[in-house]
Amino acid sequence: MKPNWHVFENQKELAKSFAAWFQNFINNYPSDIVHVALSGGNTPIKLYQTLTTISYNFLNDIQWEKIFFFWGDERCVSPSDPQSNYGAAFEYLFSRLPIETDQVFRIKGEEKPAVEAYRYSQLIKHLLPKKSDFPQFDLIILGVGDDGHTASIFPNQMQLLHSENICEVATHPVLGQHRITLTGPVLNHAKNLAFLVSGNNKKNILADIYQQNKQSKKYPVSFINQAEQTHWFIDKNAAQLLL
Ligand code: 6PG
Repeated sequence: MKPNWHVFENQKELAKSFAAWFQNFINNYPSDIVHVALSGGNTPIKLYQTLTTISYNFLNDIQWEKIFFFWGDERCVSPSDPQSNYGAAFEYLFSRLPIETDQVFRIKGEEKPAVEAYRYSQLIKHLLPKKSDFPQFDLIILGVGDDGHTASIFPNQMQLLHSENICEVATHPVLGQHRITLTGPVLNHAKNLAFLVSGNNKKNILADIYQQNKQSKKYPVSFINQAEQTHWFIDKNAAQLLL
Protein backbone atom coordinates (compact mmCIF):
# COMPACT_ATOMS: atom_id res chain seq x y z
CA MET A 1 0.00 0.00 0.00
CA LYS A 2 1.24 3.51 -0.81
CA PRO A 3 2.31 5.42 2.32
CA ASN A 4 0.22 8.30 3.64
CA TRP A 5 2.28 11.47 4.25
CA HIS A 6 1.14 14.00 6.87
CA VAL A 7 3.14 17.25 7.21
CA PHE A 8 2.80 19.52 10.24
CA GLU A 9 4.00 23.05 11.07
CA ASN A 10 6.34 21.92 13.84
CA GLN A 11 7.15 19.11 16.27
CA LYS A 12 4.44 20.23 18.71
CA GLU A 13 1.73 20.12 16.06
CA LEU A 14 3.06 16.78 14.83
CA ALA A 15 2.84 15.30 18.33
CA LYS A 16 -0.68 16.67 18.92
CA SER A 17 -1.98 15.41 15.59
CA PHE A 18 -0.39 12.01 15.99
CA ALA A 19 -1.82 11.75 19.52
CA ALA A 20 -5.31 12.47 18.11
CA TRP A 21 -4.72 9.89 15.36
CA PHE A 22 -3.51 7.39 18.00
CA GLN A 23 -6.62 8.00 20.12
CA ASN A 24 -8.89 7.34 17.16
CA PHE A 25 -6.82 4.27 16.18
CA ILE A 26 -6.93 2.69 19.63
CA ASN A 27 -10.52 3.55 20.57
CA ASN A 28 -11.92 2.32 17.24
CA TYR A 29 -9.62 -0.70 16.86
CA PRO A 30 -11.80 -3.79 16.44
CA SER A 31 -10.22 -5.92 19.20
CA ASP A 32 -10.04 -5.94 23.00
CA ILE A 33 -6.22 -5.81 22.98
CA VAL A 34 -4.10 -3.66 20.65
CA HIS A 35 -0.46 -4.71 20.35
CA VAL A 36 1.65 -1.54 19.96
CA ALA A 37 5.45 -1.32 19.64
CA LEU A 38 6.96 2.01 20.67
CA SER A 39 10.04 3.58 19.10
CA GLY A 40 13.05 4.93 20.93
CA GLY A 41 15.23 8.00 20.73
CA ASN A 42 14.09 11.56 21.44
CA THR A 43 11.04 12.03 19.20
CA PRO A 44 8.73 9.81 21.28
CA ILE A 45 9.40 11.94 24.38
CA LYS A 46 7.60 14.91 22.81
CA LEU A 47 4.70 12.56 22.00
CA TYR A 48 4.61 11.19 25.58
CA GLN A 49 4.57 14.74 26.98
CA THR A 50 1.67 15.60 24.66
CA LEU A 51 -0.26 12.45 25.58
CA THR A 52 0.03 13.31 29.26
CA THR A 53 -0.66 17.06 29.05
CA ILE A 54 -3.75 17.50 31.21
CA SER A 55 -5.30 20.19 29.00
CA TYR A 56 -5.36 17.88 25.95
CA ASN A 57 -7.28 15.20 27.85
CA PHE A 58 -5.74 12.19 26.09
CA LEU A 59 -5.16 10.68 29.54
CA ASN A 60 -8.91 10.33 29.98
CA ASP A 61 -10.02 9.94 26.36
CA ILE A 62 -7.73 7.15 25.15
CA GLN A 63 -8.80 3.61 26.10
CA TRP A 64 -5.37 2.82 27.58
CA GLU A 65 -6.64 -0.47 29.04
CA LYS A 66 -6.77 -1.93 25.49
CA ILE A 67 -3.05 -1.47 24.83
CA PHE A 68 -0.21 -3.98 25.27
CA PHE A 69 3.02 -1.96 25.00
CA PHE A 70 6.18 -3.37 23.42
CA TRP A 71 9.30 -1.77 21.90
CA GLY A 72 10.73 -1.84 18.41
CA ASP A 73 14.20 -1.70 19.94
CA GLU A 74 16.06 -1.08 23.15
CA ARG A 75 19.54 -0.09 24.14
CA CYS A 76 21.36 -2.76 26.16
CA VAL A 77 21.49 -0.64 29.30
CA SER A 78 19.62 -0.76 32.61
CA PRO A 79 16.09 0.73 32.72
CA SER A 80 17.42 3.51 34.95
CA ASP A 81 20.06 4.53 32.39
CA PRO A 82 19.25 7.86 30.60
CA GLN A 83 19.78 5.96 27.31
CA SER A 84 16.97 3.48 28.07
CA ASN A 85 13.95 3.71 25.75
CA TYR A 86 11.81 2.03 28.41
CA GLY A 87 13.19 4.42 31.04
CA ALA A 88 12.10 7.43 28.97
CA ALA A 89 8.65 5.91 28.36
CA PHE A 90 8.25 5.20 32.06
CA GLU A 91 9.33 8.69 33.12
CA TYR A 92 7.22 10.61 30.59
CA LEU A 93 4.29 8.26 29.95
CA PHE A 94 3.70 5.14 32.06
CA SER A 95 4.28 6.86 35.40
CA ARG A 96 1.32 9.09 34.50
CA LEU A 97 -1.02 6.50 32.93
CA PRO A 98 -3.91 4.58 34.51
CA ILE A 99 -2.59 1.21 33.29
CA GLU A 100 -1.59 -2.11 34.84
CA THR A 101 2.10 -3.03 34.82
CA ASP A 102 1.19 -6.28 33.06
CA GLN A 103 0.31 -4.24 29.98
CA VAL A 104 3.95 -3.18 29.53
CA PHE A 105 6.44 -5.66 28.04
CA ARG A 106 9.85 -4.03 28.24
CA ILE A 107 13.00 -5.36 26.65
CA LYS A 108 15.36 -6.05 29.56
CA GLY A 109 18.38 -4.07 28.44
CA GLU A 110 20.27 -5.09 31.56
CA GLU A 111 20.29 -8.78 30.55
CA LYS A 112 22.82 -10.53 28.29
CA PRO A 113 21.85 -9.29 24.79
CA ALA A 114 21.59 -12.68 23.04
CA VAL A 115 19.66 -14.19 25.96
CA GLU A 116 17.23 -11.25 26.08
CA ALA A 117 16.78 -11.19 22.28
CA TYR A 118 15.67 -14.82 22.50
CA ARG A 119 13.43 -14.24 25.55
CA TYR A 120 11.71 -11.23 23.95
CA SER A 121 11.26 -13.14 20.69
CA GLN A 122 9.53 -15.97 22.56
CA LEU A 123 7.35 -13.52 24.48
CA ILE A 124 6.19 -11.82 21.28
CA LYS A 125 5.65 -15.20 19.61
CA HIS A 126 3.46 -16.26 22.54
CA LEU A 127 1.40 -13.07 22.84
CA LEU A 128 0.83 -11.90 19.27
CA PRO A 129 -1.23 -13.36 16.44
CA LYS A 130 0.72 -14.57 13.42
CA LYS A 131 0.73 -13.57 9.77
CA SER A 132 2.62 -15.98 7.50
CA ASP A 133 4.86 -17.27 10.29
CA PHE A 134 5.72 -13.89 11.76
CA PRO A 135 4.03 -12.20 14.75
CA GLN A 136 1.82 -9.34 13.66
CA PHE A 137 1.74 -6.07 15.60
CA ASP A 138 -1.37 -3.95 15.25
CA LEU A 139 0.77 -0.81 15.26
CA ILE A 140 4.52 -0.22 15.22
CA ILE A 141 5.72 3.35 15.81
CA LEU A 142 9.15 4.03 14.31
CA GLY A 143 11.65 6.83 14.01
CA VAL A 144 14.35 7.35 11.38
CA GLY A 145 17.98 8.01 12.21
CA ASP A 146 19.92 10.52 10.09
CA ASP A 147 21.84 7.55 8.66
CA GLY A 148 18.59 5.93 7.55
CA HIS A 149 18.34 3.36 10.33
CA THR A 150 15.01 2.48 11.87
CA ALA A 151 14.45 0.57 15.09
CA SER A 152 18.08 -0.60 15.49
CA ILE A 153 18.59 -1.85 11.97
CA PHE A 154 21.66 0.11 10.86
CA PRO A 155 23.04 0.60 7.32
CA ASN A 156 26.01 -1.67 8.09
CA GLN A 157 23.73 -4.46 9.34
CA MET A 158 21.24 -4.75 6.47
CA GLN A 159 21.08 -8.53 7.02
CA LEU A 160 18.71 -7.81 9.92
CA LEU A 161 16.14 -6.82 7.30
CA HIS A 162 15.91 -10.49 6.28
CA SER A 163 16.48 -12.31 9.58
CA GLU A 164 14.37 -15.40 10.30
CA ASN A 165 14.30 -14.33 13.94
CA ILE A 166 11.82 -11.99 15.61
CA CYS A 167 14.52 -10.07 17.51
CA GLU A 168 18.24 -9.74 16.91
CA VAL A 169 21.17 -8.15 18.70
CA ALA A 170 22.46 -5.09 16.80
CA THR A 171 25.48 -2.88 17.39
CA HIS A 172 25.38 0.88 17.01
CA PRO A 173 27.96 1.56 14.24
CA VAL A 174 29.45 4.61 15.97
CA LEU A 175 28.94 4.02 19.69
CA GLY A 176 29.48 0.26 19.61
CA GLN A 177 26.51 0.00 21.97
CA HIS A 178 24.58 -3.26 21.79
CA ARG A 179 20.88 -3.04 21.10
CA ILE A 180 18.01 -5.45 20.72
CA THR A 181 15.79 -4.84 17.73
CA LEU A 182 12.75 -6.22 15.99
CA THR A 183 13.85 -7.53 12.61
CA GLY A 184 12.81 -6.44 9.13
CA PRO A 185 10.20 -9.19 8.58
CA VAL A 186 8.44 -8.34 11.87
CA LEU A 187 8.36 -4.64 10.99
CA ASN A 188 7.09 -5.54 7.52
CA HIS A 189 4.35 -7.78 8.90
CA ALA A 190 2.81 -4.97 10.96
CA LYS A 191 -0.81 -4.15 10.20
CA ASN A 192 -0.07 -0.46 10.71
CA LEU A 193 3.21 1.49 10.72
CA ALA A 194 3.60 5.08 11.85
CA PHE A 195 6.89 6.89 11.26
CA LEU A 196 7.37 10.03 13.39
CA VAL A 197 10.14 12.22 11.95
CA SER A 198 10.97 15.82 12.77
CA GLY A 199 13.86 18.23 12.52
CA ASN A 200 16.11 19.87 10.00
CA ASN A 201 18.67 17.07 10.29
CA LYS A 202 16.22 14.62 8.70
CA LYS A 203 15.42 16.68 5.57
CA ASN A 204 17.93 15.00 3.26
CA ILE A 205 17.16 11.48 4.34
CA LEU A 206 13.42 12.07 3.95
CA ALA A 207 13.87 13.54 0.47
CA ASP A 208 15.79 10.40 -0.58
CA ILE A 209 13.18 8.10 0.93
CA TYR A 210 10.27 10.04 -0.61
CA GLN A 211 11.92 10.00 -4.04
CA GLN A 212 12.91 6.32 -3.60
CA ASN A 213 16.17 7.25 -5.33
CA LYS A 214 19.40 5.24 -5.58
CA GLN A 215 20.78 6.75 -2.35
CA SER A 216 17.67 5.63 -0.44
CA LYS A 217 18.56 1.99 -1.10
CA LYS A 218 21.45 2.45 1.37
CA TYR A 219 18.94 3.09 4.17
CA PRO A 220 17.35 0.19 6.06
CA VAL A 221 14.18 2.26 6.54
CA SER A 222 13.60 2.22 2.77
CA PHE A 223 12.91 -1.52 2.99
CA ILE A 224 10.25 -1.17 5.67
CA ASN A 225 7.29 -0.66 3.36
CA GLN A 226 5.07 -3.76 3.44
CA ALA A 227 2.60 -2.90 6.20
CA GLU A 228 -1.08 -2.86 5.32
CA GLN A 229 -1.15 0.86 6.21
CA THR A 230 1.93 3.12 6.53
CA HIS A 231 1.70 6.70 7.80
CA TRP A 232 4.51 9.27 7.86
CA PHE A 233 3.98 12.04 10.42
CA ILE A 234 6.62 14.66 9.66
CA ASP A 235 7.17 18.31 10.48
CA LYS A 236 7.95 21.08 7.97
CA ASN A 237 11.62 21.16 8.91
CA ALA A 238 12.04 17.51 8.01
CA ALA A 239 9.79 17.91 4.94
CA GLN A 240 11.38 21.04 3.51
CA LEU A 241 12.93 19.25 0.52
CA LEU A 242 9.67 17.44 -0.25
CA LEU A 243 7.48 20.52 -0.51
C1 6PG B 1 16.55 4.33 19.11
C2 6PG B 1 15.48 4.29 18.07
C3 6PG B 1 15.92 4.83 16.76
C4 6PG B 1 15.31 6.21 16.66
C5 6PG B 1 15.97 7.02 15.58
C6 6PG B 1 15.43 8.46 15.59
O1 6PG B 1 16.51 3.51 20.03
O2 6PG B 1 17.38 5.25 18.99
O3 6PG B 1 14.57 3.42 18.09
O4 6PG B 1 15.57 4.06 15.66
O5 6PG B 1 13.92 6.10 16.39
O6 6PG B 1 17.36 7.04 15.84
O7 6PG B 1 15.76 9.03 16.83
P1 6PG B 1 15.30 10.54 17.20
O8 6PG B 1 13.83 10.46 17.42
O9 6PG B 1 16.07 10.82 18.47
O10 6PG B 1 15.69 11.40 16.04
